Amino acid sequence: MFVLVTMWFFQNDIIYASAVPPNSRENVALPSQYGLESFEDVHIKTADKFVIRGYFIKRGSEEETKKADVVLLLHDYSGNMGHRLPIAKALYDTLKCNVFMLSYRGYGLSQGYTTEAGIKKDILAALGFLRSNPLTASSRIVIYGQSLGGAVAIDSVAEFQSEFSGLIVENVFKSLPEMFADTMPYVRWAKILVSDKWDSVKKLKQITKVPILFLLGEKDDYIPPEHTKELFEISRSYSNTKVEFCSFKDGRHNNTCLQEGYFERINKWWNENITTSDRYIQTNYFNKMTLKPVDEKSSIDSKSKSE
Ligand SMILES: *[C@@H]1O[C@H](CO)[C@@H](O)[C@H](O)[C@H]1NC(C)=O
Ligand SMILES: *[C@@H]1O[C@H](CO)[C@@H](O)[C@H](O)[C@H]1NC(C)=O
Repeated sequence: MFVLVTMWFFQNDIIYASAVPPNSRENVALPSQYGLESFEDVHIKTADKFVIRGYFIKRGSEEETKKADVVLLLHDYSGNMGHRLPIAKALYDTLKCNVFMLSYRGYGLSQGYTTEAGIKKDILAALGFLRSNPLTASSRIVIYGQSLGGAVAIDSVAEFQSEFSGLIVENVFKSLPEMFADTMPYVRWAKILVSDKWDSVKKLKQITKVPILFLLGEKDDYIPPEHTKELFEISRSYSNTKVEFCSFKDGRHNNTCLQEGYFERINKWWNENITTSDRYIQTNYFNKMTLKPVDEKSSIDSKSKSE
């Protein structure tokens, strides 16, 4: 029983390891340390008034930035956005895109305490930032997430399908309860104890019109590789559009992106599935003043009524 109670109490520290590696709440590397000179250190306020921090890494000129697409990069359960700058740089160089990345609330220099509901508000704030910025208001946004970040990415696309042109997920779990059930079977009640769910099985079924690329390290030592494979199969049967899968036989949880051909594979998918799609069509999904989503359905209804 002690184990269970302890786990309940500390579950947020297990799931959201923002203190690992040490000093992750104080030291956040800057893009310029990785040769990315053109960036904004962004402070955005969430709907519940926390200030979260992000980097908007832009192309060399305003004109190039406007023309380029955006990758929204979502990090895994430990560290902060600074630890993912090498990935941001590789995407920036390979895809010739802009990159927007953030530290979720409770991570890095972002305020607040991490929960599923809270991270969702952070994503909404980041989208509001991009859609209200003239440089990115009509850009294609492709979301890239590793592991927990992949779950956040799937949730975000399910929620705002018309805002995203593509989704890339790497080493994702079906849901937190199912991951704990598969990786800690001795804690049989973990399934019940975890209050945050990140239910990607449910959310993926709602994504029908956004191209998806699943990336997997076959030797993932943290999340059973079957999770990513099953999610791919689910997505393939529910989606009406392009769903691709690519696995790297020697990839482990934390080094799949270091495998040979990783970014080339993303680039190929990008060139064939993303740059051929339409630029974003302004849906007025975000109310410019409040940056809160306008109910898509009701705005369509009111339009047809006034016509
Ligand atoms: C990945 O994790 C292992 C321990 O599981 C560690 O030894 C290694 O340095 C890590 N690699 C990277 C690239 O972070
Ligand atoms: C999407 O990209 C993949 C490469 O990742 C390619 O094989 C596939 O044909 C593309 N799909 C379409 C419909 O263009």
